[in-house]
Amino acid sequence: MITLGELSNRSIPLIGFGPGIAGYSSKMQKKHAGIWRYYYGIINRIKIRVVRKNYIDAVTHALNIGYRLIDYSSAYGDGTLLQLAIQRSGVKREDLFITTRVSNWAQREGKVREEFMKFLKNMNLEYVDLLQFHWPVTDLYLDAWREMEKLYEEGYVKHLGVANCHQHHLEEIFKICKHRPEVGQFEIHPLFTQKPLIQYYKDNDIVVEAYTPIARYDDRLVRLPLLKKLEKKYNKTFVQIILRWHIQNGVIPLVRSMSKEHLLENFSIFDFELTQEDMAAIDAININSRLRYDPDNCDFSIL
Ligand SMILES: NC(=O)c1ccc[n+]([C@@H]2O[C@H](COP(=O)([O-])OP(=O)(O)OC[C@H]3O[C@@H](n4cnc5c(N)ncnc54)[C@H](OP(=O)(O)O)[C@@H]3O)[C@@H](O)[C@H]2O)c1
Repeated sequence: MITLGELSNRSIPLIGFGPGIAGYSSKMQKKHAGIWRYYYGIINRIKIRVVRKNYIDAVTHALNIGYRLIDYSSAYGDGTLLQLAIQRSGVKREDLFITTRVSNWAQREGKVREEFMKFLKNMNLEYVDLLQFHWPVTDLYLDAWREMEKLYEEGYVKHLGVANCHQHHLEEIFKICKHRPEVGQFEIHPLFTQKPLIQYYKDNDIVVEAYTPIARYDDRLVRLPLLKKLEKKYNKTFVQIILRWHIQNGVIPLVRSMSKEHLLENFSIFDFELTQEDMAAIDAININSRLRYDPDNCDFSIL
């Protein structure tokens, strides 16, 4: 396994795969009535089957390529499709690093344990490697943390972590925790480099994961002359260059793709190294442009 560093008792892979939500829309079915509802219902069911099949195929393919860190959340689904893909891939459980997160819904409803146990059952797992909360829901995330610590103490969780935490959230957790977070994820990409926050996590021995690591293929990066120049210099795509930049910064990128070509491309980043000058040039792209939500200013009920 290609690893970044040691957690308390095992290493963590250097790159992660986040399959996200297997999305489909049931809007079509709702809009129509009578005979149209019947036909559109059939079309919709076919669409759902196709989406589910593509999702399982993509996850299986990712595992076959060599991805071992799976980044998931109960906010994305119940894990059923993921389990099918893992089973199909034939990869051994002990070779995987499976992350899940407590949804905001479970924090609101006080169902952290219930949701987690359902995930374990659907995934046919005895433990997860990393449990995080999805967002630090105001007034609720410390209670969620206490529940997560219980699951850790009972052996269902190997490592505890956080997501979307600013420094002040972590300071509150440090005040009450029995077990400190070992891994934290938040939005990081060249348009939003978050250097001070990364440093704060590292100073507190927390491994940093980057979500939205390629800024969802943002057009501002696609068009950037610097990245075009680096593509030619290294004979790599700019996505590969950005993923490599994360790793050389000591950050684990969690990238999403449903495309077999992209999955392979994104994993083919271990045969080159960016120079310090090029690392600095990519750092300088930063314009503090956040693409996702600011945890201090968002509506947790829609996330
Ligand atoms: N904790 C949180 O609140 C949180 C929030 C957001 C994300 N996350 C995690 O981070 C993961 C990734 O974040 P993200 O989905 O926001 O953003 P991302 O990984 O930066 O971007 C994903 C998009 O980039 C495209 N893509 C991937 N590789 C590509 C390539 N080589 N060339 C061209 N396009 C490519 C994908 O399309 P294709 O399918 O066509 O490749 C997809 O549309 C999520 O799946 C999730 O696990 C966590």
